[in-house]
Amino acid sequence: MTQSYRITLLPGDGIGPEIMAVAVAVLKQIGQQLNLRWEFTEALIGGAAIDATSEPLPAETLEACRNSDSVLLAAIGGYKWDNLPRHQRPETGLLGLRAGLGLFANLRPATIFPQLIDASSLKREVVEGVDIMVVRELTGGVYFGQPKGIFTTETGQKRGVNTMAYTEAEIDRIGKVAFETAQKRSGKLCSVDKANVLDVSQLWRDRITQMALTYPDIELSHLYVDNAAMQLLRAPKQFDTIVTGNLFGDILSDAAAMLTGSIGMLPSASLGENGPGVFEPVHGSAPDIAGQDKANPLAQVLSAAMMLRYGLNQPQAADRIEQAVLKVLEQGDRTGDIMSPGMNQLGCKAMGKALIEVLSHG
Ligand code: IPM
Ligand code: MG
Repeated sequence: MTQSYRITLLPGDGIGPEIMAVAVAVLKQIGQQLNLRWEFTEALIGGAAIDATSEPLPAETLEACRNSDSVLLAAIGGYKWDNLPRHQRPETGLLGLRAGLGLFANLRPATIFPQLIDASSLKREVVEGVDIMVVRELTGGVYFGQPKGIFTTETGQKRGVNTMAYTEAEIDRIGKVAFETAQKRSGKLCSVDKANVLDVSQLWRDRITQMALTYPDIELSHLYVDNAAMQLLRAPKQFDTIVTGNLFGDILSDAAAMLTGSIGMLPSASLGENGPGVFEPVHGSAPDIAGQDKANPLAQVLSAAMMLRYGLNQPQAADRIEQAVLKVLEQGDRTGDIMSPGMNQLGCKAMGKALIEVLSHG
């Protein structure tokens, strides 16, 4: 029987459209092979949306996303929009999408590809075998807390304010995702906070500690975020699943990504209680190489695989795509960001062709 899925595509800015084209071609190919039918709808977000409608997240885009089975997003942002007022910045569109769809759980795997170990800036023995899942809270914390803004004090000084806040319910729901993720992995969970200084972190730590009582199979540890950043670079293999708040998760997931050699390889899944998830690469829109056919499409393709696995419950299709990525790396195909001597350097489109070639023989 043919399964049909409605997918909203949000190519966004910079290299977004180029890498999205590769992911769509891969989905079409896998669809033909496994009887999956795609109904793609493309919508505007970020700078592209600002240029067309003066808003970074037009209401029609959010509506299209709500009415789909899953959302595949590429990347947003660029120098051109950096100086607009906050409500018109591309980033505001992305935050609005996360909030609008209630995507409180962001899963960011940092897995080392054996073929790319030498692309890491760390020593082989430090990164070989790294396999970390960062579970980042995505709709709370200092990104969303009130009050926020730039205010003027009584003495006429400007004062910038953001508020880092978490309720028990917000901590518990991300905690549940994290404990369950750790259960499916090696059973180790590290919660990262700044409880030595921040009250919001003390509450975080208390709740996560409390929850651990109901997960006796999980080995829970806690680290302060500064130490966690250091440990990620010093001895990353001590980590399996990491759970943390929005801001710390933003920072640590970039650090974890770089362990693997290139942020151009890493996908992510943003999930809510129910409804469609958003699947997107961890990397940004790379305006410096946009339109030059140089971008690495693999994180986008792996995001499509995460969509199949976590959003559409099609693990077999996800496996095939992941295998194809490994196979092209095995063949020596590389984009510029992961290039090393003796390998085949390809552009974005040619990397896409190589993937289709491998998939059509598998
Ligand atoms: C990310 C990005 C976003 C974030 C920006 C673009 C708003 O850095 O997805 O990690 O800070 O969450
Ligand atoms: Mg980030």
